[in-house]
Amino acid sequence: MTIREIIKMGDPRLLAENALVGDVQSPEIQGLIADLWETMVAAKGAGIAAPQIGVNVQVCVFGAHVPNPRYPDRPLVPPTVLINPSIEPLEPTLDDDWEGCLSIPGLRGMVPRYRHILYRGLNAHGEPFERQAHGFHARVVQHECDHLWQTLYTMRMADLRQLGYTEVLFPEIAAAEQPVKPE
Ligand code: NI
Repeated sequence: MTIREIIKMGDPRLLAENALVGDVQSPEIQGLIADLWETMVAAKGAGIAAPQIGVNVQVCVFGAHVPNPRYPDRPLVPPTVLINPSIEPLEPTLDDDWEGCLSIPGLRGMVPRYRHILYRGLNAHGEPFERQAHGFHARVVQHECDHLWQTLYTMRMADLRQLGYTEVLFPEIAAAEQPVKPE
């Protein structure tokens, strides 16, 4: 496992097409999953998607067993590997909340997301699964899947006046946003 460099907004790999995974059990995909977990934990992310480390395939990971310092007071999201995903909204309701992104360090924006979704995909063993999610869990899934669909959270914002620096908007959590150097 390796902590990989997280590429930032402006790098064309964040907006490139991401290939569907054929063989989840391949050493390349299993190694990618391990690197995504290690890189996400080192950066204190709530989730991370393969294109964020420059690999254009449909793999993302999210969630943790412990609270995230970048998102205090949010409910825990189960640790999940999600491959070749799809999302179905189960209610038309959208909720607004602040989001950040490891590829847009130091900023937060207000983003509307579906409140209640059903998501489907393959797990780390290549087995299909589906799960309902609400609230913050649903938000994280939508954010990470968007990375696989060439979309950053800023592209989902309804009002760019609600984009700002974490250190200004939320000085109490800005320390958790400090960039992490790859090994
Ligand atoms: Ni992100």
